[in-house]
Order: sequence, then C-alpha cells, then structure tokens
Amino acid sequence: MSQIPGNGGAVQSVLRWYDEEGRDLPWRQDPRTPYRVLIAEAMLQQTRAETVAPRYEVFLQRFPDLQALAAAPQDEVLRSWEGLGYYARARNLQRLAQMLTAQGGGLPADRAALIGLPGVGEYIASALRSFAFGIPDPPLDANLRRIALRYAGIPGDPLDAASGAAARKLLADWFQMASPAQLGDALMDLGARVCTARRPDCAVCPLQEGCAAVASGAPEEFGVRRPKAAPRTRRILAAQIVSPQGQAWRPRPAKGMLGGLWEPPHVLSEEDAPSLDDLRAQLAQWGVESAEPAGERWPLKHVFTHQVWEGEVIRFVVQAGPLVPPARWLDARSIAQIAVPRAFRTVLAGGK
Ligand code: ADE
Repeated sequence: MSQIPGNGGAVQSVLRWYDEEGRDLPWRQDPRTPYRVLIAEAMLQQTRAETVAPRYEVFLQRFPDLQALAAAPQDEVLRSWEGLGYYARARNLQRLAQMLTAQGGGLPADRAALIGLPGVGEYIASALRSFAFGIPDPPLDANLRRIALRYAGIPGDPLDAASGAAARKLLADWFQMASPAQLGDALMDLGARVCTARRPDCAVCPLQEGCAAVASGAPEEFGVRRPKAAPRTRRILAAQIVSPQGQAWRPRPAKGMLGGLWEPPHVLSEEDAPSLDDLRAQLAQWGVESAEPAGERWPLKHVFTHQVWEGEVIRFVVQAGPLVPPARWLDARSIAQIAVPRAFRTVLAGGK
C-alpha cells in the first residue's frame, strides 16, 4: 500500500471533487456539535439520507440538546422517530441522554468511553470523533470501506476483519491529511454517487488515478460481498425403522453440520436419488438386516442455508435386535428428550 503514489494527491483530489459535487445535507451545517452529529449518525445508520433529511431538523427542534431528550416522555421520542424505523435507536439515544445528563456531562471524545454508551458502536464512535471533535478516526461505513478496498485493490469480503483493518489503515493515513469531517463527508458522497457498489463510474472519479481496482479492469469486483451461491440440492432417502422397542436413531458426531443432534438411517447423494439398495447397505451398518419396506413412503424436503435436501422417507417394521452403537432404539419417552434437526422431524412423525 505504501507503494501507491500520491496519497496526498488523492486526498486533495477527493476534496476538490466534493467542493464541486458534494451534497448539501442538513447535518453538514455548522455547528457540528457532538449532539447534532450523534442524532444524524443514529438516524443515518439504517436509513437513507433522503428519508432522514426532512426529519432531522424537526427532531432537533423538538429535542435541541441532551437535556431536552433526556427529559422528554419516551412516547414522544418514539413518535418523533416514526417512519425512520428501528426504534431501538431512539430508545438508546434517550437512555444515552439520560445517562450523560445524570452524570452532569456531555458526549466524551474518548473512543473507549463512547463505545460504552447505549447504541454507540465502532461506527458512531468514529463518526463522532471525526465529524464533531475533528479527531482523525475514519468512520468505516460501507462506502468508506468500499472506496478504500478498491483503491488499495484488496479482494475478498469487505466485512471480514482483515479487510476492515486494511481499509482502516489506509483511511487513517488519509484522515491525517485533511479535516476529518470534510474528508468523511466527501468520501461518503463519493461512495453514494460515484464509487457505487454495482456500477462505479470510474471515468468521473477523483481517485481513478492510483486506484488499483480501476487498474485491474474490474473495479466492481472489489469491496462488495459476492452474491451467495444458490444452495445445492442433495437427494436423500431416509428410513423410519420401527420395532417393538421403538425407532432406531443415533446421535451425530459432535462436530460439523447438525453436530450432536440425532439422525435416523439415511443416504444422501449429490446427483441421482439414492436407491433402496443404498439405504439397505446403510441399515446393515446400523445392525438392521433384511429389512423390507412396510409400504409407506412420504416426502422429505428441507432447505438449509447452503443446501437443500429433497427426497423420501420409507418406513420399515422390523424385529428388535441389537443396534450398532451409538444407534439405539428410542421409545416415545426417549424420543421426546432428544434433539432432532428440523430436517428429520418428518421421519419421527411418520409424514404427519
Ligand atoms: N455526513 C456525515 N455523516 C454522514 C452519513 N452517515 N451519511 C452521509 N453523509 C454524512
């Protein structure tokens, strides 16, 4: 990253662009007091700037400072938040106001002290420090993260810890070179308008020179989460084995998918549906020999995050013989006590 030429030039170039193209948003007007910045960032954290803009000044007129917010009836605070959604933000703001006024203080500039306050996480702490206190501490929202990861050409999930650290490192340098508030505003606008997630408009970008993602020829691939792969479908054939001693089940290994939950005999296949012979081979491993289907079959389908199981359950009625541990015969009482994954509940229930 230190090889990238002209970081100072990059910062100047972003600020020049912002001078000409920046949005005039109500929370950017002076004075940017800690309280005004806090309200803006809390509103903006889950809600679009266009939705927040008309509501921001109304809220501030009704609750102009921490004292007013602390003293207001909660209903009134929540009503002022209507349409913004995620009301926990409003309740947290009021709790924060009540805590700070009870202590007789205002919002602190110290990072650790900020992060202990209701509703204040990494992002809001950094935003308060940069926008209200002028301390260089890049507020890593999705826009800043994306811009930094593209500029430095860092591939991978923008939300993983290593990406976050790399983005923070690059921007920490940039934030030393300018007014943190101005640079923060500028980068947020650049991310919203030019360096957008899907179709970055690199031709007009003040950072195109020196941007590693532009140089790669596929800038849109950096700084964004890949769409999730469609879940793969696996075919399943499962057995409900019933004897006078109950049903045959066993616990899965503690680690891995569905770890520690109980399973019935079953076979999974990546392609064609497993055959009855495949299932019989599995039953033999459980200690269930020469089982004949009792005639009943019913469908099994379960959608996990990354895969879908689709197939059938077949009922077998057998004599109770010894099972290969850890498989066991479970009577109705024992069945009520084991943890069965949703995918296999239909095996227990017999298709009902
Ligand atoms: N300026 C300061 N904070 C902002 C935010 N969260 N979104 C857009 N512009 C901002």
